[in-house]
Amino acid sequence: MANNEKSKKLFIQTLGCQMNSTDSMHMIAELKEHKNYDVTETMEEADLIIINTCSVREKPVQKLFSEIGQFNVKKKPGAKIGVSGCTASHLGQDIIKRAPYVDFVLGARNISKISEVVDIKGSVEIDIKHDESTYEFAEYKNTMYRTSVNISVGCDKECTYCIVPATRGVEISIPPEMIIKEIEKAVNNGAVEVTLLGQNVNSYGRRFTDKRPKSTFTQLLKDISKIPEIKRIRFTSPHPLHMDDTFIEEFAANDKISKCIHMPLQSGSTSILKAMKRGYSKKWFLNRAQKIKDLVPNVRITTDIIAGFPGETDEDFEDTMDVIRQVKFDQIFNFKYSPRPNTAAEKMTDLVENKVASKRLTEIIELSKLQMDVHMRAKVGSVMEVLFEDLKPNGEIAGFTDNYCQVFVKGSDELLGKIVKVKIISNSRTSLKGELLN
Ligand code: SAH
Ligand code: SF4
Ligand code: F3S
Repeated sequence: MANNEKSKKLFIQTLGCQMNSTDSMHMIAELKEHKNYDVTETMEEADLIIINTCSVREKPVQKLFSEIGQFNVKKKPGAKIGVSGCTASHLGQDIIKRAPYVDFVLGARNISKISEVVDIKGSVEIDIKHDESTYEFAEYKNTMYRTSVNISVGCDKECTYCIVPATRGVEISIPPEMIIKEIEKAVNNGAVEVTLLGQNVNSYGRRFTDKRPKSTFTQLLKDISKIPEIKRIRFTSPHPLHMDDTFIEEFAANDKISKCIHMPLQSGSTSILKAMKRGYSKKWFLNRAQKIKDLVPNVRITTDIIAGFPGETDEDFEDTMDVIRQVKFDQIFNFKYSPRPNTAAEKMTDLVENKVASKRLTEIIELSKLQMDVHMRAKVGSVMEVLFEDLKPNGEIAGFTDNYCQVFVKGSDELLGKIVKVKIISNSRTSLKGELLN
């Protein structure tokens, strides 16, 4: 697109998970390349407003309509409003029915059509069978030192509480050579770290569009580690069911793989896990966590837990607390169960009283805070390698350790993009302070 005409302004708000953030980056890049839009942080000056939505729980969906209502009142005359992402996928045309000023609706699996829909008032593109696993998006820039790359689209699991398979469709792996090419582009812009994204990253390689032979996530990790400039590889989310020995051994042995792993537990009770269709038991989860800890002594393990899933008894909940006590997670993302449309659990009738679910959530949070304090305090006095990436106005510079702790030191921009040894001198619940070793 010729850039001699004045560019239009795009304001984009992103909710939800890291896949949605990557989708937003793709939309920004496509709209820049094909439609001459530049991003603005000021909604009032935008010619196009996009809200990239999440529907994993009910609350953000309720907020959506009040939010787009506000945008409609405050926007520049003639500015367009688009709704994209997972809520777009599952509400589709209803969004325009309820908010007729919305110009287009673009589902989470239709992001490559952004340049088309933007000029067609009333368009709704939400086909969850659409396959964009081999679509080459225009080049986008992440923060300088890190990049995030989608390695698959959709999800083949049928966790009974989860709306994602209904918003993102079946799982298709992106061909490894496209992933590598995307990472190499980011490397040329200074990236030294990559985060591989998918709803179920460690089932990577089971289905490709072009029917090529199956592959594995472990193989992909090996291939990516051959890129010399990439110093760290992260990924999210892996599924505990697919954490086989080969994967855990590669995780432990490959120095480039960040030693922080997300193990979404959801529940510690084997019968609730069955009702959730997670495919593993309490015993399996504990066994996998122990194997990881045995092979990787400095590992940090984070998790997701849902409190108050239908049928969850006090004993079931005690199993969850037992797993938390045994694994001692470094961070827990907690959610109260929220019934979602198009899911199997929506029809379950033995709901847990809201009061009980809230109490359980609080118990998890309290225990988790104690455990986080213990973990962080234990790091004081140790020496850790930090990749610095963010200069603060107060003369501090922030970065992350290999196992994903945030560390602040006094320092200058010379440290940016470098991995440096730091002695940890103090801690808070969520970050560390250190001194440079030279
Ligand atoms: N693919 C990822 C999960 C993506 S959704 C995985 O399997 O780990 C992110 C988290 O939202 C889930 O791990 C779950 O803890 C939570 N979640 C999903 N559906 C939910 C629901 N209906 N109610 C409450 N929390 C939910
Ligand atoms: Fe949802 Fe389960 Fe797929 Fe995760 S693995 S996105 S929780 S269906
Ligand atoms: Fe939300 Fe969709 Fe991600 S529902 S968590 S934005 S996959």
